[in-house]
Amino acid sequence: MTQEQSPARRAMSPTLSPVPTTGPSPAPGLGPVAGQQGARSSLTPSVVAEARDLVKVYGTDKTQVVALDRVSVSFQRGSFTAIMGPSGSGKSTLMHCLAGLDRITAGQVFLAGEELNRLPDSKLTNVRRDRLGFVFQSFNLLPTLTARQNIVLPLDLAGRKPDEAWVTQLAESLGLTDRLTHRPSELSGGQQQRVAIARAMVTRPDVIFADEPTGALDSKTGTALLNYLRRSVDDLGQSIIMVTHDPKAAAYADRVLVLLDGHIVDDLTDPDVDQVTHALATLER
Ligand SMILES: Nc1ncnc2c1ncn2[C@@H]1O[C@H](COP(=O)(O)OP(=O)(O)OP(=O)(O)O)[C@@H](O)[C@H]1O
Ligand SMILES: [Mg+2]
Repeated sequence: MTQEQSPARRAMSPTLSPVPTTGPSPAPGLGPVAGQQGARSSLTPSVVAEARDLVKVYGTDKTQVVALDRVSVSFQRGSFTAIMGPSGSGKSTLMHCLAGLDRITAGQVFLAGEELNRLPDSKLTNVRRDRLGFVFQSFNLLPTLTARQNIVLPLDLAGRKPDEAWVTQLAESLGLTDRLTHRPSELSGGQQQRVAIARAMVTRPDVIFADEPTGALDSKTGTALLNYLRRSVDDLGQSIIMVTHDPKAAAYADRVLVLLDGHIVDDLTDPDVDQVTHALATLER
């Protein structure tokens, strides 16, 4: 097995500019910023998300599906984790439970110091809005809003004023400056996904959750996006948890978790594409 560095350590983005690092002061708990490239999870070792004996059951009686079966795992602040596994293995369910998008059946979920399963719905909504960013395969932009309105939506919903300098820098670094007045239908897929990433980052969230963020993009556009996510971890100390089917995408992460039938069956540190591909292949034996 080769020990060469994963693409993340070598490649530069073909199209996107550096992640902005000269914006407003980072939110408490955010990791290394400007001038500290390469300083990563080792310098920000605290846990940002954790599941303890997490069980998620869908349905009742005969239709019951145990999507997660006593999963325990923790995620370091300032690190990039990929979640992989076959279709139906529980990847999205794990992400949704960690992000408070789905109520759990048993166990505990901690996120940025809060025990999510104990929070009432109203508080949970605030945690999701203020402390988490989401990026989905299908972009999930609001069609009637412009790119800029989509980006600042989480702040609007919270009644907070956007930090114009930060919005401008995000737009610039994502190559969106001349697209901010366009609606999603007037943007390419890659541009729409970049708007979604700006929206996810605008609140300087504790964690960005991404479910197949490159699934609907061509390979070059997807690579640019993965490089951008990677650099947001390296340069801003952003924490990212990403579900993906693509070993090349997973190799951008610091860690790859492999799920099978609701269990974590592998946990790889800084793997390259070959190691990820091998881990998935062993599941089929
Ligand atoms: N809302 C739901 N109601 C009933 N069963 C569900 C629901 N959501 C997921 N499941 C089941 O839970 C299991 C895990 O689903 P999940 O969506 O987490 O898989 P996944 O690993 O994300 O798969 P994929 O790679 O296809 O997206 C599957 O058996 C699925 O059918
Ligand atoms: Mg899924």
